[in-house]
Amino acid sequence: MRRPLVAGNWKMNLDLPRGRDLIETIRSGLETLDVRERVEVAVCPPEIYLFPTAAAISGTAIRLGAQNVYHEPSGAFTGEVSAEMIAETGARYVIIGHSERRHTIGHHEDDRMIHLKVRAARRAGLTPILCVGETLDERKAGQTFDVLTFQLAAGLVGLAFKSGSDLVIAYEPVWAIGTGQNATSAQAQEAHAHLRAGLREKFGRLADEVRILYGGSVKPDNAEEIFGQPDVDGGLIGGASLKADSFLGIIRAALAKAG
Ligand code: 13P
Repeated sequence: MRRPLVAGNWKMNLDLPRGRDLIETIRSGLETLDVRERVEVAVCPPEIYLFPTAAAISGTAIRLGAQNVYHEPSGAFTGEVSAEMIAETGARYVIIGHSERRHTIGHHEDDRMIHLKVRAARRAGLTPILCVGETLDERKAGQTFDVLTFQLAAGLVGLAFKSGSDLVIAYEPVWAIGTGQNATSAQAQEAHAHLRAGLREKFGRLADEVRILYGGSVKPDNAEEIFGQPDVDGGLIGGASLKADSFLGIIRAALAKAG
């Protein structure tokens, strides 16, 4: 059985005091929910706040993730942060290939760079959260499955994993991110089932242990239905992870799935 994961991607939001306040409210909220080992919760603050966030979550079950990584271990790469440096903060996860990095920011990351980053994460013992997803044009052109197949294969080429828990995939349809327009539960399930079939082809039975998260306008009022799908193993949450009540509401939906 895969343990649902709810990860908050704070993106470039929240200053240090606000981030600490949010952690504190989530922490006390989690005490009132019966989370135990049933659901895993993670927060991914801006990189500069990884160390203070690690201190703020210390002694809680909340895990830490980074939003990006550079693939080289060290060297003359001004402004970049290596996987080893991220691991030093105590982070367990790193988001790789987020659609904002593929499509919005700077020079746009390609699948080769994303692959190198996944490799770097493994080298440092981090669990990559590899994001894949189609644009609206690709969906309209009927290319969704092809895009997912390609991005999954390119990101993971030549890699092996000892345990399915060493890899997380996030299906994030680009048209659903920050738009308020989430994928329907049926759209999510068919994409997730397609991704799991791709993982099975590559990794065999290990694919059944890999968590595939849905991301894109997840809110407390749609989370339970989306998470209720058999191949949806939790969510990567943007906007709704910035407020404790909505993030906790989404964790509650994951608990309903965990049973
Ligand atoms: P929203 O939840 O704000 O749509 O963002 C999703 C996302 O990009 C998570 O990585």
